[in-house]
Amino acid sequence: MDFHVLTLFPEMIENTVQTSITGRAIKNGRISLHTVNIRDFADNKHSRVDDYPYGGGAGMVMQAEPVYQAYQSVKRKTLKPRCIYLTPQGKVFNQTMAEEFALEEELVFLCGHYEGIDERVLEEIVTDYVSIGDYVLTGGELAACVMIDAVSRFVPGVLNNEESSQFESMQDNLLEYPHYTRPESWRGKNVPAVLLTGNHTKIEEWRLGESYKRTKERRPDLKAKNRPVTAAYFSPTEGTKKAVELLVEHLTQNPQYLDLTRRKLRREKKIFSAQELLVAAAPVYGGQLPVLENELFSNLKGNHTPCVIMAAYGNRHFDDTLAQMKKILEDRGFVCIGAIAPIIPHVYSDQLGKGRPNEKDEVIFKKFAVLIKKRIEEGEKQGFISVQVPGKAIPDKKTKKVLPQFLDKEKCIGCQVCVQRCPVYAISKETLEIDEEKCISCMRCALLCKKKARTFHYSKIQEHLEKDFFVPREIEFF
Ligand SMILES: Cc1cc2nc3c(=O)[nH]c(=O)nc-3n(C[C@H](O)[C@H](O)[C@H](O)COP(=O)(O)O)c2cc1C
Repeated sequence: MDFHVLTLFPEMIENTVQTSITGRAIKNGRISLHTVNIRDFADNKHSRVDDYPYGGGAGMVMQAEPVYQAYQSVKRKTLKPRCIYLTPQGKVFNQTMAEEFALEEELVFLCGHYEGIDERVLEEIVTDYVSIGDYVLTGGELAACVMIDAVSRFVPGVLNNEESSQFESMQDNLLEYPHYTRPESWRGKNVPAVLLTGNHTKIEEWRLGESYKRTKERRPDLKAKNRPVTAAYFSPTEGTKKAVELLVEHLTQNPQYLDLTRRKLRREKKIFSAQELLVAAAPVYGGQLPVLENELFSNLKGNHTPCVIMAAYGNRHFDDTLAQMKKILEDRGFVCIGAIAPIIPHVYSDQLGKGRPNEKDEVIFKKFAVLIKKRIEEGEKQGFISVQVPGKAIPDKKTKKVLPQFLDKEKCIGCQVCVQRCPVYAISKETLEIDEEKCISCMRCALLCKKKARTFHYSKIQEHLEKDFFVPREIEFF
């Protein structure tokens, strides 16, 4: 990522950014820093770039032309990079904004001095007005450094593994838990006993508890914004599961998962409060949701709870699935604030959706996660807005076609894994026969069987899919 800074004091920026972690990132080529001295574009021998304000009053104003020329001199990679003007009149900078700016290839920062900059050049070049807090600085340089530091942390490779795996204060609107190092006892104060147990689950629980406690005490305003995220998914062969995990990682550090592939969990009612976020994910079967004993997600109930829906599909199309999911969940008290249709491997073809989600898809997940965070922030102020998605909310009824299948009794060792893990309990414990009324042809039993005793005959579908839907599709989101 390239940072360009237009300033009267380049050394102030360089000295700060070239130090510590951002300095290392510059050396490693993860980020670059280019400063432009606005004074180099003055049109007088004294290098003056300010003048008296029209209409009178105290202070000086930076002139439009040198700022404009400095901006024009930036060797840009992108056509119109975002140009951020640091000003107390801007939107207050936060972690979501840092994450959003980090998605850009390059950023231009404009640092003002004196009373400000001639409004006309701001109108011409600035895309974002940003403040780092409700106080006034002598110039925009320190604010630019703060932003460069916070944005850089989201640029891949800037933090090493150890640094990036640390608990992110702010990521979930929570403050960090307290830290301790040797000695175990210092001036009569002991390290909390749980940290010495070596029990990582207990330690994680304690740390999260401390985070909640601290945030409540020190920043009750943040605590009110903390929003637990639950991902509820149905995924017999785990393609949807992988995609939803990848997305949720960008939404929270503490995800809860609800595996609705397990019939037992589909039967348990779960109520969500307005303070939570649900991510509901399912694979596309024939352009719709898989048909189960009860409609998928019918055990979940919201209370004006925002939700994000994901229809994962094998590169043919998602057709009506998102619209169907949206209706089911909105009828149950959720507000659908975002929808995404990622491509995952097709269970009937090793060519369709091969290697998806890939690196390019992950960038789209990141963008979508930032969009969701922004929609949540806006929704908290103005109310959540339901998104429009394509497709029919009540899809046409289809006649169910079950794939011909075969059990090789010679290979079968009777381990019963297929019986126990069939998401619709379609396999008889006694005979191991599949009940075609219940079977959804999801292939879970065939993939789980270590002895490869179960086969489904799908070569005709495979041939048709590979002929007509071979071209990789792009993720769509709404
Ligand atoms: C019965 C059935 C129907 C499917 N229908 C479609 C479809 O209409 N469009 C599509 O792109 N993929 C379709 N797929 C592929 C799935 O969406 C997906 O690739 C995979 O099977 C399931 O996800 P999972 O790994 O989470 O179980 C279908 C898969 C099955 C088993």
